Amino acid sequence: MVSALLLAFTAVALGAGHGAAFDPNPVQDFCVADPTSKVHVNGQPCKDPATVVANDFFFPGVDKPGGTNSRRYGFSALSVQIPGLNTLGASHARVDVAPGGVFPPHYHPRAAETAVVLEGSVYFGFVTSYPENKLLAKVLRKGDVFAVPQGLVHFLYNNGTEPAALYATLSSQNPGLVLIGDALFGSGLPGDLLAKTFLTDTETANKIGARFRS
Ligand SMILES: *[C@@H]1O[C@H](CO)[C@@H](O)[C@H](O)[C@H]1NC(C)=O
Repeated sequence: MVSALLLAFTAVALGAGHGAAFDPNPVQDFCVADPTSKVHVNGQPCKDPATVVANDFFFPGVDKPGGTNSRRYGFSALSVQIPGLNTLGASHARVDVAPGGVFPPHYHPRAAETAVVLEGSVYFGFVTSYPENKLLAKVLRKGDVFAVPQGLVHFLYNNGTEPAALYATLSSQNPGLVLIGDALFGSGLPGDLLAKTFLTDTETANKIGARFRS
């Protein structure tokens, strides 16, 4: 009985160590990223704590859109780069979606997400995993917050007439981003395989693929 319990605890402990889907716990107050270091660790190496200043924990300007712009989808994403968040299991971004624009179905393999609407209104939601494939989505307005569990496919659609802006927080320093459409149609997967996947014909699959790769 005791040994069975011990075995169960060991299994849980090993699972936490090897299969954990979260960033590792920090072993210090902070580890402000040193971008000049040539050392590679899980995260970035820390700069000398004696040289740390308030600006290492600061990022200005998320009141305005910025960052990389996706003309194809009509969104822009501004990564909030805070060196002081290195190793602390979090990242942040401002996302702007033009009227009619989408942040198309995607997932973050390593992070849950929480987003607050700063401006405008968006249709925002996620889909549970197979076999339920249940859609949980809402129209969000300024001041609303929505959460997305780790690894689930989610999307934003600005089907309103005003520009929409959100501030998103992710539970990993490196959440990863898989855009479903791009991963499937922009990767060079064979058209006949895509046709079978989407229950369509090869010609249609190739036609869609050509748009992704143009
Ligand atoms: C946006 O789409 C959602 C879901 O289909 C719908 O409930 C909502 O009314 C739409 N908003 C506008 C402004 O059309």
